[in-house]
Amino acid sequence: MNGPAVNIIAGFRRRLALRLVSAGLVAAVVAGLAAFFIQTERLDEFLVDHAALEAEALRPLMAAGRDKDTVERGLRTVLEARAAVSRDFFVLAELYDSDQRALGEASVSGYGFVEDHFDRSRHQFPSPGGTWYTKTFIKDAPYLQVMVSLTDAAGRGTGWFEGIYRLSPKTMAAIRDDVMQITVLVVVIVLMTAAMLYPLMASLQGNVVDAARGLLRANIETLKVLGNAIAKRDSDTNAHNYRVTVYAVRIAERLGLDQAAIRSLIKGAFLHDVGKIAVPDAILLKPGKLDEAEFAEMKTHVGHGLDIIAANLWLGDAADVVGGHHEKVDGSGYPRGLAGESIPMAARIFAIADVFDALTSERPYKRPLSVEATMEILEQGRGRHFDAAILDAFAAIMPALRAEIGGRPDSEVETLAERLLAAYFEF
Ligand SMILES: [Fe+2]
Repeated sequence: MNGPAVNIIAGFRRRLALRLVSAGLVAAVVAGLAAFFIQTERLDEFLVDHAALEAEALRPLMAAGRDKDTVERGLRTVLEARAAVSRDFFVLAELYDSDQRALGEASVSGYGFVEDHFDRSRHQFPSPGGTWYTKTFIKDAPYLQVMVSLTDAAGRGTGWFEGIYRLSPKTMAAIRDDVMQITVLVVVIVLMTAAMLYPLMASLQGNVVDAARGLLRANIETLKVLGNAIAKRDSDTNAHNYRVTVYAVRIAERLGLDQAAIRSLIKGAFLHDVGKIAVPDAILLKPGKLDEAEFAEMKTHVGHGLDIIAANLWLGDAADVVGGHHEKVDGSGYPRGLAGESIPMAARIFAIADVFDALTSERPYKRPLSVEATMEILEQGRGRHFDAAILDAFAAIMPALRAEIGGRPDSEVETLAERLLAAYFEF
């Protein structure tokens, strides 16, 4: 496996791990909050049930004939007794008869202030067997105001108990510990699940990457096969395709084109003349100058090329170069006579690479021109055939290009072009 492929898989795994961890954390926070609310809700229910039980002990105080003092003394005794043995207790209590008349109230010593924090007139009298409650925080400590309906043995309502229940800091701390423990447990379970899923998902993702890489390789092979097929008819070597690819990519890099644009340019460089497959040998291979009719026929290779690549979605973005590589910036090119920037950037870049390689290459009917002579010819086309800014960029990288591929055998240029393909397509 080569470098770019390793990078792709490492990138996938990093993203996968990151997503699993972040999804795990979000799930853990949501589960932790849910645990907190469920616990708090359960606690309220527990306290209300507890208050109802406590209230049962007060039933004897409701006996007929007891006066207010007796009721209040009895209440105070019960409250103080509970406060002495329990850390959570009623700090205030009041009894009502079946007509909702107050029979008497009492509070645990030192907790009279609680009364100031509740508007007790807003309480509701629940029906027999029912309860009503509300919660208030006083100095960060929770107090629960509870109304419990009192019933006789037959289940008939005999009155109501109203109490204000205090939760001790210890109980609050215990609740917080419970919530924390549940939250931590949930977080650990979620993260462990994510950790167990990671190898499975990483392996599945690896398979997807392998499959995608296989498809990409097949596409690249198609690119080379098509480029090679026309090269075989034209010049018996595909070295031209490899050289123009290197030139074009280096110009594009100099101009700062993005990766996607360079990938399109590479496809176009390989396939620029693929339409020549449809041009008769008598014209394509004619050693001398083409007459007007023959040239008209030769020009059709652009349209044929566009037809050929249109049949393949992956090759579709080669259309800029295939369709525009014979356009000239003064509008005198073919097939559409486009001018200036209406010619796609990739086509303007490629035109320079293509003509440069044609002039510097040896052909059966001509000797190669020197780089200097070729650059002079290109200069004559400045602003007419070639885009001036791109020509400048090409001239600027010429020393580096000569060092990179000048005088090297075709096999080395091919290796270099293959490296560019691997780098830009990351297979
Ligand atoms: Fe062409």
